[in-house]
Amino acid sequence: MIKEITANVLEDWLDNVRPFAYDGQVANYIPALSRSNPEDLAVAIHYIDGHAVEAGETEVRFTLQSISKVISLALALMDNGENYVFDRVGMEPTGDPFHSIYRLEQIPSKPLNPMINAGALAVTNMIHGDTPDEKVGRLLSFIHELTDDSTIGYNEEVATSEFESAFLNRSLLYYMKQHQIVTGSVEETLDAYTKQCAIEVNVCQLARIGALLANGGKDIQSGRRIIPRHLARICKTFMVTCGMYDASGSFAIKVGIPAKSGVSGSVLASLNDFGGIAVYGPSLDEKGNSVVGLKLLETLSNRYDLSIF
Ligand code: DON
Repeated sequence: MIKEITANVLEDWLDNVRPFAYDGQVANYIPALSRSNPEDLAVAIHYIDGHAVEAGETEVRFTLQSISKVISLALALMDNGENYVFDRVGMEPTGDPFHSIYRLEQIPSKPLNPMINAGALAVTNMIHGDTPDEKVGRLLSFIHELTDDSTIGYNEEVATSEFESAFLNRSLLYYMKQHQIVTGSVEETLDAYTKQCAIEVNVCQLARIGALLANGGKDIQSGRRIIPRHLARICKTFMVTCGMYDASGSFAIKVGIPAKSGVSGSVLASLNDFGGIAVYGPSLDEKGNSVVGLKLLETLSNRYDLSIF
């Protein structure tokens, strides 16, 4: 049985990692993200018994960025079934950066997994909806169910800022359209994807999503099933093998908790029989992962023996 971590303990652990707040750099390839404050650190734990603890700047909202890839994957799987999704996107990890294009040229020319940008763009393309707004509206409704919070929306400025500068993601989409992995309009898929990445949450809302995944897809308060159990398992498995991009191997060794990072500086972690952990700290290391997020998760995992391995 894993010991409970109280809010006071969490505050202390957060203070311990505070000195690392300026060790990396905030993301600047999306102009709107470059204004994040490296000192805005926050952490929340949602236990699967419904109890929650938090510390730091927990009211700060940040965009999901790549963490949204886990949620869009769950929805695309529910919309289309496993066969359809995995005919178009693979299940294998990659040692490449998240926006890498070159493996698409290998046969079969489908993205290696749904956590790299190419795979995530293909997944967004599969979400049911005739227009980008319909897809994003369905994704938001899904997130409202996952968090039991209907106030969550997306940040228009971040979405527009990314849409206007996403030339590499456009290239990935055009390449995949040539190979019939994606259908329809490239611009519309990119529109939906950039809005998906710009969905804003705080650490408490994010930790609750982690707890739902840890609870096999059932809401931790009501017990209502929101994601089929086997699909929640698929999402958590991708978090282990591909969630931290080309740092997934070292993260598995040092931390050993299924987790997904985003370039806003957030990390979502989900641990069966325990709950969800969310960390925010906008300074990123060279691989695009939150410096403070990694340090804090490593500390907690070692101190409380949380590794699944
Ligand atoms: O596709 C992009 O560039 C972003 N919107 C999401 C990338 C991301 O979060 C990668 N993370 N570590």
